Amino acid sequence: MISKKSAAAVNAQINREFFSAFLYLAMANDAMSKGFKGAANWFTQQFKEEQGHALRFAKYLEDQGAKVELGAMDAPKTQWPGLLAMFKDALAHEKKVTAWINELAEIAVAEKDFAMQNMLVWFINEQVEEEANCNDAIWMLEMCGNSKGSLFMADHRLGKRGED
Ligand SMILES: [Fe+2]
Ligand SMILES: [Fe+2]
Repeated sequence: MISKKSAAAVNAQINREFFSAFLYLAMANDAMSKGFKGAANWFTQQFKEEQGHALRFAKYLEDQGAKVELGAMDAPKTQWPGLLAMFKDALAHEKKVTAWINELAEIAVAEKDFAMQNMLVWFINEQVEEEANCNDAIWMLEMCGNSKGSLFMADHRLGKRGED
């Protein structure tokens, strides 16, 4: 049993998670076009992870007997000056997502929806990880500065990311 208000809020978040996936795929494409195959892998893994988030929310709605309704998505940006700019945008985006997840939690509390509160715990923890991952990459890329050799190594390291 889920209230209309909660179901609408989860539906909105499903669309946002798909937009996140779209944004990370755009970053993967831009990284690939610039020759950063490692970063392209990192963003492709993130693209897959975001689809997983959308489907996790969708499964919850379905389990609660509510219908998933997909909406229109904005086109993502398609070009960044470099990897550091991409990860800075990724961090800014994840902070927005964290705020949205917090809004969902506020709704769940207001609606006294304990199942939704419990479901959101996973996402609250996930957002801590998402922001930390972006911060790690930003730290590494800031250390590289304009050194091509260091950037090569950083890209190699980003390429080591598997599906997590
Ligand atoms: Fe997500
Ligand atoms: Fe994650």
